[in-house]
Amino acid sequence: MSNDSSACLRALRHVKLRVGFLSMSTETTSSSRTAIYPGSFDPLTLGHVDIIVRGSSLFEKIVVSVLGNIEKQPLFSVDERLEMIRETFSDRSSVEADSFSGLLVEYALSKGATAIVRGIRAISDFEYEFQMALMNRRLAPSIETVFMMPAEEYSYVSSRLVTEVAMLGGSVHGLVPGVVEWRLKEKLGRSNTG
Ligand code: PNS
Repeated sequence: MSNDSSACLRALRHVKLRVGFLSMSTETTSSSRTAIYPGSFDPLTLGHVDIIVRGSSLFEKIVVSVLGNIEKQPLFSVDERLEMIRETFSDRSSVEADSFSGLLVEYALSKGATAIVRGIRAISDFEYEFQMALMNRRLAPSIETVFMMPAEEYSYVSSRLVTEVAMLGGSVHGLVPGVVEWRLKEKLGRSNTG
């Protein structure tokens, strides 16, 4: 057997052990499972929506948590961002919108969450996300970070690019929920964001 194949087998064995551990812990924990989906959401995109919907099938409650104290100048206020999230998910009682400041893990523990959900669009996202997940695990070992992939059609969509396109008068139709498209038009005073 080649070195590559035996390394693969070793990795597979490790994954099996890990999966076994996770299913064991699932059986012994309480049935009410809440996940935090944190981020800037400035603004919410259809990539975020896709992750929230996927996360809803894994967790009983997903709290979409807007970080309040970011240094960069946001386009939308925290309240505006929360309104857009709430409007988008008004028909899904398992999705809650909230804001937080300070340490994410402290906030997650205060909400009784067992997991933090993060979306990974491409390998370029991975390094930062991996660092954050390990730091969060060090701070709060009981909280697991769960990475999820959005649908391929959203793999290039980010709040930053959507905002830039909208600011420069391009269409963001099909990249953000209807309410966000409308709010972008309103905020930027342009007629051609959709
Ligand atoms: O959507 P973003 O901007 O990539 O989200 C980043 C976010 C909000 C998840 C991250 O900045 C965060 O968790 N901030 C809270 C402060 C904190 O806990 N920092 C230590 C994380 S290792």
